[in-house]
Amino acid sequence: MQILVIGTGYVGLVVGACLAETGNDVVCADIDAQKIADLQNNILPIYEPGLEELVRRNQEQGRLRFSTDSATAAATAEVVFLAVGTPPGEDGSADLRHVLAAAETVGKNLRRETVVITKSTVPVGTAKKVSDCLARHARVPFHVCSNPEFLKEGAAVEDFMRPDRVVLGVETDFARSVLAELYAPFVRTGKPILFMDIASAELTKYAANAMLATRISFMNELALLCERVGADVDNVRRGVGSDARIGSSFLFPGPGYGGSCFPKDVKALLATAGDNDVPLRVVAAVHQANERQKHVMYDRLVAALDGDVKGTRVAVWGLAFKPQTDDMRESPALTLIEALLAAGADVVAHDPVAMTHAQKVLGDRITYAATSYDAVEGADALAVVTDWNEYRHPDFERVRGALARPIVVDGRNLYQPRKMEALGFEYHSIGRPL
Ligand code: UGA
Repeated sequence: MQILVIGTGYVGLVVGACLAETGNDVVCADIDAQKIADLQNNILPIYEPGLEELVRRNQEQGRLRFSTDSATAAATAEVVFLAVGTPPGEDGSADLRHVLAAAETVGKNLRRETVVITKSTVPVGTAKKVSDCLARHARVPFHVCSNPEFLKEGAAVEDFMRPDRVVLGVETDFARSVLAELYAPFVRTGKPILFMDIASAELTKYAANAMLATRISFMNELALLCERVGADVDNVRRGVGSDARIGSSFLFPGPGYGGSCFPKDVKALLATAGDNDVPLRVVAAVHQANERQKHVMYDRLVAALDGDVKGTRVAVWGLAFKPQTDDMRESPALTLIEALLAAGADVVAHDPVAMTHAQKVLGDRITYAATSYDAVEGADALAVVTDWNEYRHPDFERVRGALARPIVVDGRNLYQPRKMEALGFEYHSIGRPL
């Protein structure tokens, strides 16, 4: 099939590369000429396991092309994916300017009957706006569909290739049959394609992210209660997660959820709820709880450093909002670092892949260490923010010897409290007794 993907961010790039891998002829378009030039040379704007190889192979074999010219590609496309950014507007609602601008270009240039898919995370009612926009410009029939993406950063290729489900909001048999064929290679293991109405498909995406964010915030708050009553959140997590109705994933307490999706989508869902006069009290509380949670590590450091971090040196392990990505967006590490800097502490940070991105955000306000051990050298405390594998089993003796004071504040519960105590650390984690 001839496919055009507009927007070469996380979603667009993964969708384009994976659809090329299954034999389709894909053009990935973006208005950013530098990004397109880099992609033509297999230089990716993001770190995503397996993606570079996929892009290189499919480009070499001629199935995947990168272009700034979405207009020309729209003329021959059978399927167009709109995968441009939807940044939050001032009130938290998704800003649809890029989506509608892309729709306009597509509408003006369609030359054959085409399926146009909103792939960006967009509020309920967006497909209708896209459809109205296309109708103003198109001279051929078109079919607007909603196909939300559930891929996780760090596992995006795997998630696209082997999805739990494919959600498709469609209104016509034409669109239904084209998309069933397009997605057939990805659901061979029997996972479902869920056809539904467009509004339900659009809302499913927000509901899924808000539900996952709810689980995390629930456990984050429960972890704080565990500390007060002498319970261990690890035990509670395993106990509740073993119930098949609950399931064990997304129950890990931490420094608060971050990333480009959960915070944005929770706020956008609240904006939609507000516009429709339907209070989503649970979701509102999730947002509030998370804002609070992002300060827990800082509070713990202050308490451990005798009530004042001014003049101290704090080592931070992990800058990305989670492992396997260099994405810093809404990372809890940023909240922690900003609070430390504002209080007059020095920060020495390490991250296996996110330091280049971090430098763009934090500049030279912090020091970047070449290795995790360099970061702790002479520091008064170590804060572990991201659960990168390489931080799971460090040489504790070496860390202990390098730290000026043996304080470890672990936001990811990576280490065993008793073992840490035996090694001579003053160890603080989330929701577990010392
Ligand atoms: C999330 C969803 O998981 C995807 O299904 C969705 O497609 C994507 O958003 C999106 O909307 O595009 P992602 O933002 O890549 O994916 O990251 P997650 O792996 O979901 O993690 C989100 C945050 O929750 C991270 O800060 C992570 O550290 C935190 N988290 C996750 C916890 O604190 N505890 C957990 O148990 C799990």
